[in-house]
Amino acid sequence: MKIVASCRACSGALNYVFDLGQVPLANTYSETRAEAINLPRYPLRLCQCRRCGFLQLDVVIDSATLFSHYAYETPRGSPSLTHHYDQLVEAIATIHDAPPKRILEMGSNNGAFLELYASTCEVLGIDPAENVASSVRVARQFFTKETAIQFGKCDVFVARHCMAHIDDLKGTFEAIRAVLKPDGIAVIENAYALDTLIGAQFDQLYHEHHSYFLLRPFFDLAEKVGLNLFHAFRSPIHGGSIVMFFAHRGAGYHATDALVKLVEGEEIVEGALKMFPARATMAIEGLRAGLRSLAYSTVDTYGATAKGNTLLNVLGADALHIRYAVDSTPSKWNKFLPGTGIKVISEASAIPLNDEGFPYPRPDAYLLTAWNYADEIMEKQRAFRDAGGVFILPFPFPRIV
Ligand code: TMP
Ligand code: ZN
Repeated sequence: MKIVASCRACSGALNYVFDLGQVPLANTYSETRAEAINLPRYPLRLCQCRRCGFLQLDVVIDSATLFSHYAYETPRGSPSLTHHYDQLVEAIATIHDAPPKRILEMGSNNGAFLELYASTCEVLGIDPAENVASSVRVARQFFTKETAIQFGKCDVFVARHCMAHIDDLKGTFEAIRAVLKPDGIAVIENAYALDTLIGAQFDQLYHEHHSYFLLRPFFDLAEKVGLNLFHAFRSPIHGGSIVMFFAHRGAGYHATDALVKLVEGEEIVEGALKMFPARATMAIEGLRAGLRSLAYSTVDTYGATAKGNTLLNVLGADALHIRYAVDSTPSKWNKFLPGTGIKVISEASAIPLNDEGFPYPRPDAYLLTAWNYADEIMEKQRAFRDAGGVFILPFPFPRIV
């Protein structure tokens, strides 16, 4: 771990925005409850660069610790993710004239996105997590400016929800430039800090997320390495995301109207930043109140998510009457959540009338930590709700439904 005093985009000085206290690493699912509760904790605080406005944490955990073994697996069969992938494929087809011949994806996880291209072009995933099985060919490596050369050139480079994990952003952008063919495009998708700020989504803050993306700082960063940010669109995926498109400078990709409009929309960031500590505190207090009002009911969390671990740890002792965390990821089952020691159980145990014989009685309420999938999870659990079960939704504002 290191504490940094200067901006990863421009080396300017940092200001504190919001401090969430001492929190263990979010994706450390432990073998025993005791181990989970006693994990080391690190400061978790959002900072902003005084010079370029880039939002980031000042605590950096080295990537070998975070990613060589990775607990996150892209969920399969999620309707909202499937729809989002379709939109991405369509956007890429519209922007890159010729159908791509070769695609690289950094942080390709289980291959869920690259699969869509596997039958029409050459695909290569680049992901260091040895434990996550991939459906497509994958290089078990970090994508850095030192390693980039060995992956070869591509027409389309994709990085979804992993660029926030990068400490050396400039080096990674240099690496992207090195692998892009002259008319190639890089598609970088990340949680959008504007949505995080306006929605008071304090749970998007965890140590893996070193950076919180707005468009403005990326113009300078791209320019420094000879790239050009020329297009972007917003998506509701993961609580609000931004999809950015980069190309070589001078390659003939010009700033789109959509990009210009979005950048203008970032004028409200300063006000949103000022309000964020108060709104995040209100969200935390609202959730505590919601859990207290259910003090005589049994409560589990739905989703053993990374962001849920920030949420549960920040809520603190009040949340600890939560019994279990239900999740669809098999590798998380029977492990214990970092800091709170809540046991993870299979999602099947949450489905009424399941015949798998799980020994866990259904709760009266679920705290939905996977709130970015609220619609589909609540639909899937219709029978639970019909039988009187309720969900506590943390965002966009705490409520029981
Ligand atoms: P994510 O928000 O980072 O994608 O994490 C979602 C988590 O929620 C992941 O651990 C899988 C879990 N999940 C379920 O348990 N059931 C579901 O229906 C979905 C969509 C996700
Ligand atoms: Zn800066």
